[in-house]
Formats: sequence, structure tokens, C-alpha cells
Amino acid sequence: MSADVTIEAAADEAKTTQALRVSKITREAQDIASFELVDPAGLELPPFTAGAHLDVRINDDTRRQYSLCNDPQERHRYVIAVLNEPAGRGGSRAMHEQVAVGSVLPVSAPHNRFPLAGREARFHLLLAGGIGVTPMLAMIAELERRASPWHMHYCTRNPARTAFLDRLRPLIAAGKVELHHDDGDPARGLDIARTLAAFEIGAHVYFCGPPGFMHAAKASVSAWPPFNVHYEYFTATDDRTEAVNTPFRVKIKSSGQVFDIPADRSIVAVLRDNGFDIETDCEDGYCGTCITRYLDGEPDHRDTVLGEDERQRYAMICCARAKSPMLVLDL
Ligand code: FES
Repeated sequence: MSADVTIEAAADEAKTTQALRVSKITREAQDIASFELVDPAGLELPPFTAGAHLDVRINDDTRRQYSLCNDPQERHRYVIAVLNEPAGRGGSRAMHEQVAVGSVLPVSAPHNRFPLAGREARFHLLLAGGIGVTPMLAMIAELERRASPWHMHYCTRNPARTAFLDRLRPLIAAGKVELHHDDGDPARGLDIARTLAAFEIGAHVYFCGPPGFMHAAKASVSAWPPFNVHYEYFTATDDRTEAVNTPFRVKIKSSGQVFDIPADRSIVAVLRDNGFDIETDCEDGYCGTCITRYLDGEPDHRDTVLGEDERQRYAMICCARAKSPMLVLDL
């Protein structure tokens, strides 16, 4: 299957929704709760693979993506975990304050931009930062079933903020999971550069966590072939704070219309002003909802979703700018 088909199919799949009932809410750590979602009629749920996530519509204004953290073999439930971030955009707070057992939430089909490598992989190294542990839990279930060698470094501020400890305790005792607490000072936590300094043939590394953690991990994988490096952001990258916006133009292939994109506005914002119905979610380059094919020009990619191959054909138009004077969009 080509990358085109895969990414477009995943985007379409994500748009189909089902109403699921919250059957259980569990406090997993300070400010972290897990939510178990089931079909109200008790039907089996669509299957998912380790690393997949759901789009959850929390209320009329708010839709968020959450990684599935239960065993992918389970078909009777989905489990997600949510960190309550009072300084965030409101989605996590709404999950914690507005959603109760019995609530019914529209939820997308699972889709996966963070899959495990195949069975040919000889070793899987997992690096989880805080709530970034959620996709790793599904991966661990799958790797245990495959009997594939793996190890996880789980980095949190302190034990009170370390979710899923009960579930992980046997794996900690077995030496498969190592905890690292930094009390808010990364210098006291895992030495990520040292951990990733050497690559061994057949090894794959996976990382997911907050921006500083992701930045440190991405800066430390120079010895690893890109094919063996897997990561997923759940917030925008902090790598683009230095980026300077300049104006450019976009052309719509189907109509020939040309629009000016000023330095202080996104492509999505300008197209909406002109009557285009563009679906978005994060509007910050990390959810993949606004993926759009381009046909000419050179985008200045600022997302954390697209791989190098995909960037030759697609742009995330909520955040992408252009290096060329004109970008032609396949709309
Ligand atoms: S809306 Fe999330 S990447 Fe564009």
C-alpha cells in the first residue's frame, strides 16, 4: 500500500464517528484519569493497533485526540488517559470536569500514526515522558504477546504523578520498565542523549512526551537510521519559536482562485474567510486533521505529523507556510 493511500485512508477513517458510553473513570495519578469507553449496546468495537488514538468530541466546541492505552486485542472497550492541564486549551479540563460515568461521547474510529515496527525488529526501546506513556502501554501489551524484546524508560516528575504504576509494577520488578523522576529539573532525570547515543542493528526507538522531552530525544537520535525512529507529539513542537513568517500566495487547483496569505494569518484562516469548509482540530500542527495535498510550490512545513516522504505531497495547512512565492493546493 502506498504512503498516499495509507495517510488518506487514515484521515477518512478518522472522520467516521460512533457514540460510546463512559463505563468507568479511574484516577491513575495526580491530575491523570483514565476513561473506559464501551458501545452502549455492548457490541464489539472496531479493532485498533498499538500506538493508535481516537478523536473524542468532548462538547460542541472541543475535540481532542487521545492514545489508546489498553491491550489492542480487547474488542469490548477502549481506554484513554487524560492529564488535566489547567493552562491548556480546555479539552483536558472538560474531560475531567464535564465527563462522568454514563456520559456518551462521539468518538472516531481508531487511527494510528505511531505504529510498532514489524516482527523483524530485534529490539524495541520505549521512552515515555509523563502522559506520553499511554500509547506505550498498548505497545507493551503487543510486544509481550509477540515475545519481542523491549525496554521502557518512563520519565515523570515524581511518584505521585506517575500513572499506571499498579499495571507496571510487575514489569518494573522484572527490569523491563525503569522509572526516572526529575522533580521538575530535567538535569536530574534520564540522560536521554546517553541512552540514545548508540544504535544497534535491528533496534527501534519510540518516544512520546512533552515538548522538552521530545526536543531532547529528537536531538539525540543522530546515530539511528530514520526508519528505526518513531515518535508522536501530543502538543505542538517548540522547535518553531524561531521561525519567521513571511507572506505568500496559495492557488486553488479546482477553481484557479489565488489568495494572499499574510504573515500573521494561516492558510486555513484565509480559506475559511473565503467560504472554504476546512476541518481542523489542534490548529497547531500535531493532529493531522487538516492534511492537504499540494501540487506545486515548496511548503515550509511546521507540523509534527508528516514524515519526509509525505512532505513531498502533503502539507498541514493550519500551520504550514511556503518557501516559494506560491503554493498550489489540490482543493
Ligand atoms: S488541525 Fe491539527 S494538524 Fe492542522
